[in-house]
Amino acid sequence: MAGTGTSHLRSADDALLRVEDLVVEFPVSGGRTVHAVSGISFDLLEGETLGLVGESGCGKSSSGRAILQLRPPTSGSVRLEGVELTELDHRELRRMRTRLQMVFQDPISSLNPRRRVRDIVAEGLDIWGRPDDADQRIDDTLRAVGLDPDVVGDRRPHEFSGGQCQRISIARALIMDPQVLVCDEPVSALDVSVQAQILNLLHDMRGRFGLTMIFIAHDLSVVNHIADRVMVMYLGKVCEVAAPGDLFRNPHHPYTELLISSIPKPDPRVGRSDPLPPGEMPSPTDPPGGCRFRTRCPHATDRCANEEPALVEISTGRHVACHHPLP
Ligand SMILES: Nc1ncnc2c1ncn2[C@@H]1O[C@H](COP(=O)(O)OP(=O)(O)O)[C@@H](O)[C@H]1O
Ligand code: SF4
Ligand SMILES: [Mg+2]
Repeated sequence: MAGTGTSHLRSADDALLRVEDLVVEFPVSGGRTVHAVSGISFDLLEGETLGLVGESGCGKSSSGRAILQLRPPTSGSVRLEGVELTELDHRELRRMRTRLQMVFQDPISSLNPRRRVRDIVAEGLDIWGRPDDADQRIDDTLRAVGLDPDVVGDRRPHEFSGGQCQRISIARALIMDPQVLVCDEPVSALDVSVQAQILNLLHDMRGRFGLTMIFIAHDLSVVNHIADRVMVMYLGKVCEVAAPGDLFRNPHHPYTELLISSIPKPDPRVGRSDPLPPGEMPSPTDPPGGCRFRTRCPHATDRCANEEPALVEISTGRHVACHHPLP
């Protein structure tokens, strides 16, 4: 797969966030370059949740970080309400960043172990000097994520489970009243038994805080219930964009089909595992020419080796980057 194209972008006026031709590359030893993200484009309408899905190493976290300018992209455009984030200076970016928050995969290591929960949650507020109503906001936000401020406020992260730490990091993001929340595999590191609780919490918060979200997961089944649209990525490129129901019922891209077939069947005895789709992803320092998925694709032809498939709309709201899409 591995398409480039902007046909899935809607009219520019509609988008709260618009990402165009985002490229993230990392120079590594031997003069080589990791092509982590190779020209992805998408837009987000206010209140929408976009699921970003693909197996480990396909560039999901690099995309999330580049959108928030935590690590500026190599090239490309990221606009929030028309403001080009890649061109902001340090001070403007700090101000803008309060509107874009991120929840990370590993809740425990993303929290400062020496700080009390109240101070962790207030981290973003402190950048501008703690406001007069900070204590009230901290209490309200902790309650919103299901934690009792009187019980947890003065404790430190090591006293909590992974699920509770993720609640704390969600509170830290929400207290800033962000417009866009990027959740980077927020439940992958959690016990199976608490994954659904955190997913439900994020679902509730989305309605309550009017959030627009990018929800990153390696497993399609995780985004199925929370995303309005899903973007499937492989080796730094977009394969397919569609509503989750359409994607599950009728995947058009061979890689999407592979991802669906690799979803573990629920087995109450063993809990969830994360099997990889068969075959190995090529090195991102030397991605295949033409379609990047061709080395694992059962439908590959000569054309796939020679010509990169563009991301095109093959039916209303369905965009696929494949020379031979599944019917
Ligand atoms: N700081 C870095 N330096 C070099 N390579 C990196 C760096 N960060 C990520 N990568 C590489 O970029 C690719 C995409 O990584 P990542 O965005 O973390 O993928 P995902 O989140 O989908 O697992 C991977 O091959 C990863 O090893
Ligand atoms: S059929 Fe060709 S273009 Fe489509 S995913 Fe397979 S290799 Fe890529
Ligand atoms: Mg990641």
